[in-house]
Amino acid sequence: MKIAFGCDHGGFPYKDAVLYYLATHGHEVIDFGCNSEDSCDYPDFGVPACKAVANKEADFGILICGTGIGMSICANKIKGIRCAHVTDIFSAEVTRKHNDTNVIAMGARITTKEDVIKFIDKFLNTSFEGGRHEIRVNKIKELEK
Ligand code: RB5
Repeated sequence: MKIAFGCDHGGFPYKDAVLYYLATHGHEVIDFGCNSEDSCDYPDFGVPACKAVANKEADFGILICGTGIGMSICANKIKGIRCAHVTDIFSAEVTRKHNDTNVIAMGARITTKEDVIKFIDKFLNTSFEGGRHEIRVNKIKELEK
């Protein structure tokens, strides 16, 4: 799959591990930065990554900042994006099954690198269940009109 990646300086320490995981699991990455631990602004990297997902240049987005919260706030402002701020494996799975989320946001200051990789793996390998959940997601989509 094509994955749009974005992080800020808070998420940068995990970037190499995430890109390595994606490359070794057959994914193509569109990297929107950042590229160092120098202080920067998470919207500058999260928003372009989400726009790539919204425009269907990428299938899913992965965002990492210090907490994942700032990135998830940005992401959910963008039409077509449903972003889950994930801190546990159950949510990583259920948000795909129930919310049909297309972006996952995590925090490098609150979640270990190993868990971030586990959450990404679960997120990317879980499908939307549709059915009653589709009715609910459609009600979210209505809000964007
Ligand atoms: C940066 O210090 C930090 O505020 C950012 O990475 C993120 O946690 C914001 O939500």
